[in-house]
Order: sequence, then C-alpha cells, then structure tokens
Amino acid sequence: MRIHNLVPILCVGGAYALPTLSWLPQFPVEGLVRCWGIFAPLSEDRTIYQVLKDDERYSRLVKAINLSDGVTDLLDDPAASITFFAVPNTGIPHRQPSHGDDDDNHQLDFASLAPKHGDERDIAYDLGRLVLQVEELDNIPESRDKDHRKEALGRIIRAILAYHILPEKLDSTALVQNSTYATNLTLNDGSMDYQPLRLSVQSTIVPPRLRINTVVDVIKRDTEASNGVIHSINIPLLPPPSLFSEMFAFPEVFSYVTSAIQRVGLTGAVDYWRIPGKDCHISFVGAEIATFFAPTSGAFQRLPKKLRFFLFSPFGAKALRKLLEYHVVPQLVLHTDYVHNATSYTAFIDDQEAGVFVDSPSNPLYAYNLTLPTLLENHSLNVQVARYKAKIPLPGPARYFTRFVVNGHDVGPYDIPARNGALHVITNLLDPRGHHKENHKHRGHEHESVDVDWEDWEEWLPQWAMQD
Ligand SMILES: *[C@@H]1O[C@H](CO)[C@@H](O)[C@H](O)[C@H]1NC(C)=O
Ligand SMILES: *[C@@H]1O[C@H](CO)[C@@H](O)[C@H](O)[C@H]1NC(C)=O
Ligand SMILES: *[C@@H]1O[C@H](CO)[C@@H](O)[C@H](O)[C@H]1NC(C)=O
Ligand SMILES: *[C@@H]1O[C@H](CO)[C@@H](O)[C@H](O)[C@H]1NC(C)=O
Ligand SMILES: *[C@@H]1O[C@H](CO)[C@@H](O)[C@H](O)[C@H]1NC(C)=O
Ligand SMILES: *[C@@H]1O[C@H](CO)[C@@H](O)[C@H](O)[C@H]1NC(C)=O
Repeated sequence: MRIHNLVPILCVGGAYALPTLSWLPQFPVEGLVRCWGIFAPLSEDRTIYQVLKDDERYSRLVKAINLSDGVTDLLDDPAASITFFAVPNTGIPHRQPSHGDDDDNHQLDFASLAPKHGDERDIAYDLGRLVLQVEELDNIPESRDKDHRKEALGRIIRAILAYHILPEKLDSTALVQNSTYATNLTLNDGSMDYQPLRLSVQSTIVPPRLRINTVVDVIKRDTEASNGVIHSINIPLLPPPSLFSEMFAFPEVFSYVTSAIQRVGLTGAVDYWRIPGKDCHISFVGAEIATFFAPTSGAFQRLPKKLRFFLFSPFGAKALRKLLEYHVVPQLVLHTDYVHNATSYTAFIDDQEAGVFVDSPSNPLYAYNLTLPTLLENHSLNVQVARYKAKIPLPGPARYFTRFVVNGHDVGPYDIPARNGALHVITNLLDPRGHHKENHKHRGHEHESVDVDWEDWEEWLPQWAMQD
C-alpha cells in the first residue's frame, strides 16, 4: 500500500493509530495539517476569486470565470458567504487532436452555442467543453463575431458555474450533515417550480470520501477564503437532466422502467423537454416538478414470470400504466431533507410531528412520516424518513445516515437531484393497495428470485386494472 493510500485511514484512526507507526517521521506534514487542522489555518483575507486567480492550478477555470461578470462579481464579493466547487486545470480535458480542418471545427463547435435568445436556459453544457471553447477564443482575431462569441459563452458559463456555487458557506463538516443543497442555479423555464436546482452529497468515513452527485469527488476540502470556502473537485459538476433522461442514461438499471414509461405514454409525467415554437419562441412540455420512485430492472425481473408477461403484453398495458402512475408524485419534490409542494406554500414537514432530538444519540436528528398523493387517483404512498448521527468509536468527522422507507420498503440510492425533481431508487415494485409483506425487511430476502408481494396478483390485479 502506498503512503498516500494510508493518509485517509490515518485521518480516521487519528491519534490512536499514530504512535505505533514507525515511519511517521517521513509523513508529509502538509497532509497532517490538512487532516487534523493541528495548526489553525491563517485567516485568509483574499476572496474566493482572488485565491483562485493567484493559484496557477486553477488558471483554466479562472479564464472561463473571467468571461462572466456575474460570476466574477459573486466570487469576488467581500460581503458574500458562499461555497464554491472549483475544478483545477487537471480536471478539464485537453483538446483532442482534430482530424479535419481546424477552422471548420471551431465553426462546428460554435454552432451549438449560437447566441439565440434564451440560450442560457439550456444547461446541457459541460464545463470542460466550455473551457476549451474559451481557450480557443485566443486563436480568433478581434472582431464583432469574437465579441458575440464571448458574450454567448459568458452567459452559458454563468449558468453552469452557478451550479458550482452554494449560496451559503459550508465547510466539509457542515456539508455532510444534510443530503441535498440548493445551488445558485435557478432556471427560468419553470423547472423545479422556479426553485434552485439541487445537488446531493455522499460521504463515507472509510475510506474518507466526499462525493457530489455520486460521481464527482472532492479532492481537496475546505480552502478558506474571506467570503466563503472552496472545495476542489476532480471533474466539473453537470447540472442534472430530467428524471426521465437520468434513468434513460443508465439502461443497465432502468431499461425496464423507461421502456414501460414510453410504452404506456407516461413520458410527460417524468420528462421535461423543450420544443421549438413559432418566431424563435421556445416552449417546454412535460413535468416541471415531480418525484419518482424508480423501480430497478431487477424489481421487474423478480415479479412472477406470468405477471411480467402480462404487464408487457397488450392486455397488461392498462395495469402497467396504473402501476407506474402509482410511482409518480406529481407537483412535488421530496428529498429526504427538503420538500417543495408546487401547489401550496407550506413547510409541511414541520406540521407533521417532525421529531427533533438533537442531543440524544439513540434518537434521530429528525424524523417524519408523510402521505404522498400519486398520479393514480385515490392511491397514496406512505413515506418514513429518519436521519441519524452515527456513533463511531473513532475520532474524526461525524457520520450521518438516513433511513428512507416507502410503503415498508427501503429506498436507495435516494435523493438523486434532477432538473425537474427528485429520483429515488427502489428494488421492489410498489403494490398500489399499499400492502407489503412484513418479512421484507429481513436480510437476504432481496436476493430471492420472486417478489412475494406479488404472488397473489392474479386474484386482484387484472380486475383492479379495469376499474376507473
Ligand atoms: C482574469 O482577470 C483578471 C482581472 O482582469 C486578470 O488579472 C487575470 O490575469 C485573468 N486571468 C486569466 C487566467 O485570464
Ligand atoms: C440541514 O437541513 C435542515 C432541515 O432542512 C436545516 O435546518 C439545516 O440548517 C441544514 N443544515 C445545513 C448544514 O445546511
Ligand atoms: C446566488 O447567490 C447570491 C449570493 O448569495 C444571491 O444573492 C442570489 O440570490 C443567488 N441566486 C440564486 C438563483 O440562488
Ligand atoms: C400540496 O398542496 C396541496 C394544496 O394545498 C395539497 O392539497 C396537497 O395535499 C399537498 N401535498 C402534500 C404531499 O402535502
Ligand atoms: C412513523 O410511522 C411509524 C410506523 O407507523 C412509527 O413507528 C413512527 O413512530 C412514525 N414516526 C413519526 C416521526 O411520526
Ligand atoms: C376517489 O375517491 C373519491 C371519494 O371517495 C371518489 O368520489 C372518486 O370517484 C374516486 N376516484 C377514483 C378514480 O376512484
């Protein structure tokens, strides 16, 4: 094992592990300082923008930031108190050697960025590619065309970087406390009911890992600045696509449910997409905001074989549609630590007997039960959430975890942010009668080949499907 692999373990083991290690004197001091904060960090009087600007390792990102006054102003605002996820140069790709004529390529790339009205709404841009396009500007002689390009790029960069900013200062110990956070990016197309898009945080202690949106690693935590904190990430964050697009991107896990959704014409309940209208007018169709409990392909495969044939046959289409509708909570986004009801302005978690027992380790930090209406009329889901602080017999950062249950079944992974809501993964298809077998929680059950909840389906499902 290489020493740098050991650093994380040491951080967790802390003082107990240290004295027994004979090679300690060779241990990089920088690593120690970072791990334990033995030496209080000198108070930093530069802003986030200034810290990044002075650091050669972020020059490519800074060049992109420089193109957007809005982002520069926010990151350089001495009165701000924010969090910024910064990608160092190493996290940004280099231009692939091109095959054809270089100039042609510039034109081609730029065509996708043509400064049309409303372009900043389209968040399907990867920061890495945007930085490449900023760098290419250097090869273009000054002209009005270049100014247009700069302006268009600046607007898109502003939107994408807004997703890298949290409007409050959260060092890594604060960041692991909750599961999702609002970013500085709010879309003006109705997505998320005009609430900011969110990102999710995953942390483990062994190995000590802090991840954003399950794929982006924080590689250096807690760089202080006068107006906030910088966390360095290995690759850019990507503002999330719609619920449907997210599932569609992972056919290994979701091919059954996405094909079922399309088959029964429910795409509009979980997708959100733009259509060109007249006079360059752009409009959007689909669900602006929804929560979806997404059954994995495994959930479908564990249904009794005969039921699966039925659901995916022409005779079962109506049943399939009703079952899928039961998994959609419309007009509402529920993350385990955040609820937004688009049809009413109430913080209703607080009204529903939320228990707060912060000081007692055996009790949850918060717990609540909710009844969620679904797209299927008169059929609701019962959700139970409890957040705990783990008692780990080791020094180091606190660990938190959430128990999230829907109709008696454990949910996970959960709190996956989408452009238009929240996605939670389940490994059982939910029974619309709200039934579930109690023995479900027993370990080992999930590996059984048939989902026992559905064994008696022939006795009720075909008839139920025909009712209105
Ligand atoms: C960004 O802009 C600042 C202020 O104009 C300038 O000092 C700095 O060199 C620029 N950095 C890059 C990488 O373009
Ligand atoms: C976590 O979420 C709770 C409930 O929404 C909130 O009161 C608390 O301030 C949040 N903590 C952080 C560190 O944002
Ligand atoms: C972005 O952050 C700034 C500073 O905290 C705040 O004034 C602004 O309202 C935020 N915008 C969004 C869309 O969150
Ligand atoms: C959302 O608000 C509407 C209107 O007040 C209400 O009927 C509905 O029950 C709310 N949803 C939940 C899950 O509380
Ligand atoms: C939620 O419901 C469960 C099962 O009925 C119950 O044990 C638990 O105490 C409830 N939690 C809250 C916070 O009401
Ligand atoms: C839902 O329940 C209400 C009240 O019981 C009833 O009037 C209505 O017909 C039901 N809707 C469906 C689709 O079953």
